[in-house]
Amino acid sequence: MIDLSIEIAGIKLKNPVMVASGTFGFGREYTPFFDLDKLGALVTKGLTLKPCPGNPPPRVWETPAGMLNAVGLQNPGVDVFLREILPFMKTFGVPIIANIAGFNVKEFATLASRLSVPGIAGIEVNISCPNVKTGGMALGTLPELAAEVVGAVVEATSLPVIVKLTPNVTDIVGLASAVAKAGAHALSLINTLQGMVIDINTRRPALGNITGGLSGPAIRPVAVRAVWQVAQGVDLPIIGMGGICTANDALEFILAGASAVAVGSANFRDPLTAVKIVRGLEQYCIQNGIEDWQELIGAAWKGNA
Ligand SMILES: Cc1cc2nc3c(=O)[nH]c(=O)nc-3n(C[C@H](O)[C@H](O)[C@H](O)COP(=O)(O)O)c2cc1C
Repeated sequence: MIDLSIEIAGIKLKNPVMVASGTFGFGREYTPFFDLDKLGALVTKGLTLKPCPGNPPPRVWETPAGMLNAVGLQNPGVDVFLREILPFMKTFGVPIIANIAGFNVKEFATLASRLSVPGIAGIEVNISCPNVKTGGMALGTLPELAAEVVGAVVEATSLPVIVKLTPNVTDIVGLASAVAKAGAHALSLINTLQGMVIDINTRRPALGNITGGLSGPAIRPVAVRAVWQVAQGVDLPIIGMGGICTANDALEFILAGASAVAVGSANFRDPLTAVKIVRGLEQYCIQNGIEDWQELIGAAWKGNA
């Protein structure tokens, strides 16, 4: 039995494989498929202060190598989450990371404070959603504003603060450094890439929101590059995501410098993807005689494995 456990910013994970925000709901739909305690951690759908209806349909569009979505943070709001959803999620026996999305700095801080309750292991700050007009990427692309949000969140909670970065910037290392200085304990990267599709039959944009976020295998090389650059430039643990479908994909992220990975869009195609990846990582360690899997973190540039 290989020990795949790791601690990230004080959160103890039995393995480094999580599920990415917005692609696993609050877990309920996946319970018929596997025992969720097999996951390293579970990241909630993005939570807003008030219930959010999301964007007009169509909100999802398939492209040849990935999907375009503009769900627009549809969720029941933090009150309903705390009252009706968290008690159920706590029964999974897996660390729960609450993903938050405010529309201004104060909302982010209020959300972090409200969610600082037993049962929540950490806060993931989504300053990178490309599908909302204010908040989201508007805050996440400017280092000074991103740092302001993160500073306010760190002040508002004693939980570990994980900051989720957008790839839709020219200098992701600069952005990561700014949020690190503001007190972030870990980083998640990447969120979706901005994209759009035009329906040639209607001759109109395919998505109700016109633009959306591209996810899936198409963005994997962009995500691996982002992890590679940030891991070498900023001294914080990284949760890598973007197009991960197999254990080999996950290993690329780990070798680039990620201490954990998250499975996103692949959950829609095969709900068992994350557990298959855990098994695949174990097999890789056995086949390659690796006793301490953490030696693989960043090995592509550290050259130590
Ligand atoms: C339908 C959908 C909804 C998403 N909702 C959120 C969200 O609420 N908060 C967030 O931080 N990221 C959200 N994301 C981004 C994912 O968590 C992930 O960062 C991104 O999809 C890249 O991973 P993937 O290529 O494996 O899907 C969403 C992605 C998809 C596809």
